[in-house]
Amino acid sequence: MTATDTRPVDAARALFADRFGAAPAGTWSAPGRVNLIGEHTDYNDGFVLPFAIQHRTHVALAPRNDGRVRVASTFDDGVVEVGLAELGALFPARRDEIPEWARYPLGVAWALLESAGTDPHTPTGVDLAFASDVPVGAGLSSSAAIEGATAVALAEIWGIDLDRVALAKVGRRAENEAVGAPTGIMDQMASLLGRADAAIFLDCRSLEAQVVDLGLAGAGLELVVIDTGVKHSHATGGYGERRAACERGAAALGVPALRDVAPRDLPRLAELVDDVTLRRVRHVVTENQRVLDTVRTLRDHGPTAIGDLLVASHASMRDDFEISVPELDTAVDAALSAGAVGARMTGGGFGGAAIALVAREKVQEVTDAATAAFDAAGFAAPTIFTVTPSAGAARD
Ligand code: GLA
Repeated sequence: MTATDTRPVDAARALFADRFGAAPAGTWSAPGRVNLIGEHTDYNDGFVLPFAIQHRTHVALAPRNDGRVRVASTFDDGVVEVGLAELGALFPARRDEIPEWARYPLGVAWALLESAGTDPHTPTGVDLAFASDVPVGAGLSSSAAIEGATAVALAEIWGIDLDRVALAKVGRRAENEAVGAPTGIMDQMASLLGRADAAIFLDCRSLEAQVVDLGLAGAGLELVVIDTGVKHSHATGGYGERRAACERGAAALGVPALRDVAPRDLPRLAELVDDVTLRRVRHVVTENQRVLDTVRTLRDHGPTAIGDLLVASHASMRDDFEISVPELDTAVDAALSAGAVGARMTGGGFGGAAIALVAREKVQEVTDAATAAFDAAGFAAPTIFTVTPSAGAARD
């Protein structure tokens, strides 16, 4: 961000003028997301229940007539420039030649042209300038916000008629192959399909999405994000190891994905794999059930009734999947002790943010309790704010 008091859409326009010396043809934007429940289930063909948040990444764009693409971001001083026809040689093999931040938009340009079957020599070139207020490294999908904004902007400018699910797949491919993070499709789907006041119940096998009303305001609830400030990256280490353990578990049971495993299969699995793999699988299998239970509970009893499911989800990630960190556990425990209805870490884990579902009148108490607990544990102060379920990617 150039300045915290500048709206990101204005910052994107100003950056465009500054780096490219002209006015953009338009701006597009896409949101970050909070996952309410359903963690590490997406790449197991399972269920997730995320919602888009009010924090967005904006891209200011103008076409060029020379087949080149230039990208700029408020997070970096440079401009990265490549020819559209060169993208196919860069991704994935030579992605290290591109600065990491630029792999997201350039990866989307590459994957979009490929999935539309467009000859990279034909579309017009583009200049793109990005600005965002989605916290980075907080587990709120700042990367999916860049991908979503780029995908809708380029699809419109290039006249590529792909639906939102296809655009989400483009974003996932950019993330997997251009960035090198072996993530699933939840974040891109949430960013592209988000709706005000609602979560998206997604079947990650069929990619069928249902809008589920959250009714937070009517129930007097707020969704509080406690950003621990512990940065994580899914391109390295733990995320990929967890994914590999899930694949081992599915292979041991002879099924395509853990989506096909039920709790009653776990005793049989215990005879086939080591204890760590068993616990990784148990998390995914029970988490899928918790998503289904959460959707049903929301519909039948409203959001106040889902607290125990959030708490059980966190315990499963802490104890079975082992992707929590002390800061996340401290945030969850403090929120619950201060009267939150439920709380859990959200996103891929190893850092990032926890969420707490909190009665409006208790938000200050929860905020103070989390801040005090971090201080007592010797952790740097967390950043705490509320989020609102918001609309997905669109032209501004
Ligand atoms: C990250 C990934 C998602 C998903 C979550 C964990 O956010 O990008 O695809 O796997 O972690 O639920």
